[in-house]
Amino acid sequence: MNTPIVTIRSLADHVGEQVTIQGWCYAKTAKGKLVFLQVRDGTGICQAVVFRGNVEETDFEAANAVTQESSLIVSGTVKADPRAPGIPGGYELDVRHVQLVSLAEPYPIQPKEHGVEFLMQHRHLWLRSSRQWAAMRVRAVIVRAIRNWLDDHGFLNVDTPIITPAAAEGTTTLFQIDYHGEPAYLAQTGQLYNEANIFAFGKVYCFGPTFRAEKSKTRRHLQEFWMVEPEIAFCNLEQLMEIEEQFVSYIVQRCLKECEPELKVLERDTTALQRVTPPFPRITYDQAVEMINAAAARGELVPGYPDPVPPLEWGDDFGSPHETYIAAQFDKPVFVHHYPTQVKAFYMEPEPDRPEVCRSVDLLAPEGYGEITGGSERISDAEKLIAAIQRHHLPMEPYEWYIDLRRYGSVVHSGFGLGVERTVAWICGLDHVRETIAFPRTLTTMRP
Ligand code: 4AD
Ligand code: MG
Repeated sequence: MNTPIVTIRSLADHVGEQVTIQGWCYAKTAKGKLVFLQVRDGTGICQAVVFRGNVEETDFEAANAVTQESSLIVSGTVKADPRAPGIPGGYELDVRHVQLVSLAEPYPIQPKEHGVEFLMQHRHLWLRSSRQWAAMRVRAVIVRAIRNWLDDHGFLNVDTPIITPAAAEGTTTLFQIDYHGEPAYLAQTGQLYNEANIFAFGKVYCFGPTFRAEKSKTRRHLQEFWMVEPEIAFCNLEQLMEIEEQFVSYIVQRCLKECEPELKVLERDTTALQRVTPPFPRITYDQAVEMINAAAARGELVPGYPDPVPPLEWGDDFGSPHETYIAAQFDKPVFVHHYPTQVKAFYMEPEPDRPEVCRSVDLLAPEGYGEITGGSERISDAEKLIAAIQRHHLPMEPYEWYIDLRRYGSVVHSGFGLGVERTVAWICGLDHVRETIAFPRTLTTMRP
């Protein structure tokens, strides 16, 4: 039977037509003269109903022989039925022809619960499971939304190098490599190069993988993660926050619009996501410390944790319980700005009248997903920058070019980085970033 090959996602456009679907068997139930195949093709899952009376005997035998994950091609008539299971569901195939392409061996991943270690070892197969599939599809929409928003708002995509001679986000998380006898590092960020690029192009972004040898095992840290970093000339901290809230809201709203079936598979309660619209609340680090210490004094619990809010000394960085507590006080993502200069990167502009705090801002996602963006106004004066490099005990030579940017037409400028994996975790409601990227690199896993 020669019928058009269509995707499961497009079945609604083919009701009553004869079509062909190419895919894999997700599950099978056989009942006498009927075989129900759950077929997935990468765009969704649909039920293919094989009735013995409607197909050649050899095709019926093929349908009966199909094992989980066998590849197959089925043809038949598309029927609309609101009760039909699947993703998005509501359509099924009344089968006329079945072709078994390759019979799968007994499949190691079964509908029963497997431990995380087993699933991670089988990541190459686990990706086919519906929750993993859904998360990767949402990720792709997030990436598309990121690019679309920036491209539509005058940002030029200028990518930055992966192999770099100097640290940008602290020297403790560097992955060192051998660059023909000279030590070099995998990029922790593209920011410093982005700053050069704004002087040529005004508003830019880089988007690529970044690397951090994070020694701690947490739900939010990967060794290799993707970051989009917009950088803007003639932009101060307050203007930066306005850009960030527009950008993040757009990403969330695009996902709500385009990923309904995926978010349903993930059982994501989307009410909190619907509220993600500008403006976002803004608080200072000082205010956050007050809120944290007041809660600690009352013995208040951190949402989702068995423990009370730990007190925080002014000048220390937040731990994840602090971030979770602060975020839980708001019904939208919240900006925390003006962190202590001592806990932040060397390039952040200290507040002129109060240099112990800097013109930095982190955006904390609701529901305990933590910091999803980090950004700041950058030091724009050469002398101040040199002093900061010295204060951080960094070598001057690798930063000479970076200091140069302040010598030839320096301007107030700002930028931020948004971590794709944490954004995916938040939007999908996943509690660990290892499920937000196809092949995660964690402290304990780099295989497959
Ligand atoms: O706050 P970070 O370290 O900021 C920077 O790297 C700046 N240079 C960005 C800039 O201003 N252009 O990282 C930015 C974001 C974090 O908010 C978080 O979402 C993510 O990157 N991130 C990680 N995601 C997963 N695993 C890790 N180890 C991460 N480290 C940071
Ligand atoms: Mg940060």
